Amino acid sequence: MPTNLSANEHFQQVVDRAVSRRGFIVKTGASAATVAFLSAGLTACGGSDDDPLPPAPAPAPEPEPTLGFTAITAYTEDGVSVAAGYTATAFVPWGTPLFSTGPGSTWAGDGSETAADQARQVGDNHDGIHFFPIDGKSSDEGLLVMNHEYSTTSSAGYDTLFGATAAPANTLERVNKAINAWGCSVIHIKRTAGKWNVVLDSQYNRRITSSTPMLLTGPAAGDALLQTSADPTGTIVLGTINNCGNGYTPWGTYLTCEENWNNNFGTTVEPTVDGRTAAQKRYGLVSGSTGYGWEVFHDRFDYKKEANEANRFGWIVEIDPFDPTSTPKKRTALGRIKHENAAYAIAADGRVVVYTGDDQANDYIYKFVSTDKYVADDLLNNRNLLDSGTLYVGKFNDGAATGDFMGTGEWIPLTTANPALSGRSLAEILVNTRLAGDAVGATKMDRPEWVAVHPKTNEVYVTLTNNSGRTVTDDANPRTANRYGQIIRWREAGNDAAALTFEWDLFVLAGNPTMDQTNPLNKGSANVTAANTFNSPDGLGFDQSGRLWIETDGGYSNTGNYANQGNNQMLAADPVTQEIRRFFAGPKECEVTGLTFTPDSKTLFINVQHPGENGNSHWPEGGTALPRSATVIITKHDGGVIGS
Ligand code: FEO
Ligand code: CA
Ligand code: CA
Repeated sequence: MPTNLSANEHFQQVVDRAVSRRGFIVKTGASAATVAFLSAGLTACGGSDDDPLPPAPAPAPEPEPTLGFTAITAYTEDGVSVAAGYTATAFVPWGTPLFSTGPGSTWAGDGSETAADQARQVGDNHDGIHFFPIDGKSSDEGLLVMNHEYSTTSSAGYDTLFGATAAPANTLERVNKAINAWGCSVIHIKRTAGKWNVVLDSQYNRRITSSTPMLLTGPAAGDALLQTSADPTGTIVLGTINNCGNGYTPWGTYLTCEENWNNNFGTTVEPTVDGRTAAQKRYGLVSGSTGYGWEVFHDRFDYKKEANEANRFGWIVEIDPFDPTSTPKKRTALGRIKHENAAYAIAADGRVVVYTGDDQANDYIYKFVSTDKYVADDLLNNRNLLDSGTLYVGKFNDGAATGDFMGTGEWIPLTTANPALSGRSLAEILVNTRLAGDAVGATKMDRPEWVAVHPKTNEVYVTLTNNSGRTVTDDANPRTANRYGQIIRWREAGNDAAALTFEWDLFVLAGNPTMDQTNPLNKGSANVTAANTFNSPDGLGFDQSGRLWIETDGGYSNTGNYANQGNNQMLAADPVTQEIRRFFAGPKECEVTGLTFTPDSKTLFINVQHPGENGNSHWPEGGTALPRSATVIITKHDGGVIGS
């Protein structure tokens, strides 16, 4: 549900003023309209005469990624499907022990584990993931770090976390088990004789939960807005919550992104009396009771008892997986939103850039540019680069024409020097980032999910997953009640990630060429065919050669019309030809999310989240087993590079 009530532009208004100079065209015929891409990408699209930007120079030569596999058909079974010639194996499902003795060293299989057990086992609802080679280069041993976004505790009467078929009454123990099922896992893994295993009892194995102490750092740390009765310093927080997508840094740390944290804050104090501030409403805090019920047992999750606690969530958290004693750091310089993921780039002058999307209908896309420069192999220099810099919010500007699905853009600084933010402290801007974005006129987007930076060209892609509440249509979001979603991309001026202007266009408009033709645009763009239909693109990432991998979180359908045409999936796309092929599909009622490769690109780890969230899956064990979120390891039979 949109919480952005500002008067900022919709894409409708942007596109109304767009320049018709790019390759995305709409052909209208007597009977139906078809949407088609020209093969030309951004590189073929120089500025028009009235364009305030000089034409961007041609990017570095782009390699030609090939989609060297045969696409799979839509899949509706309760297993996994992967392209011929590949193997897909479930790994480290929820509840996997990380230690051979003590609490949590066994998995009973019936959800009977306690909160103490859960704190030493792999968490629930796997999401963002990254493989850190143990020595910086190994493809056979490393630290697999992943997010556990939430727990399936009471969806549609099905309660996976406790192995129950109906939601039991909440208790302190049950809430604490959920708290310990959320967060992150650091898992030391090693491949022996072709098989990956957990290195039990490794010094690196670690659970970071929704009660693990962590620090607030950067410009807002210590501010009054971050102080609570338990922490008058405003610098020490218990836990991270709703860890959705992820990022990583070139200096070997993991970035976990706090997304739907707003759903964890409610009140037991006169719960029928709203009592939320304007900022709390803008961030979507729940009025009264929450579905999770954490506020019943922990006062800090009660917004009437501890008004500032919610301000301590919604951050990018940096974790050093190689130091199991390290304290995770919430980097306030990157702003507080519902962070989906974090994708880094290095600017021309060496500064670090981090792109993040705010996953809410009609919210914004951001980028952070560090003050200091990244220096390879200088850990002392790099360790706190994310504490100082400038946060920008994206504004998608026009060209002169409508109907071309492209334009120019600018990054608006969210600083005290910006006249539109006059009177606000930097801490206030960073804590209430959404309000700052509203004030400076950022462009409303359709639920920005994952951002990915092309490893060769620095072009930036973002999934705009869907927008069921859209009532105003435009070129970039051309369907009301948009069930399908789309992917847009931009290139920074001068191909410099720190640039303040950019050009953008659409990469794919998801749809279905044969169904749901009430709106001709539901056919999708020309690179959407009957063989690769998908909806709700969400997870996104490039491999080293520049293949784009797209993961979906739609309504258990590849079509978007929500007939059961296939489970959620992973596809590969060629950024040059724009061809898209379906590579993998997961079990019933799951989402496919997160991706990371070993350095040799021959092992791919992805995550299957919430299989059977409505009670209709037994993956991965099958039979009558509880469904369990799990990682999936994908390898090629011939030992080759994934996707080649
Ligand atoms: Fe956790 Fe926006 O997906
Ligand atoms: Ca997601
Ligand atoms: Ca999702």
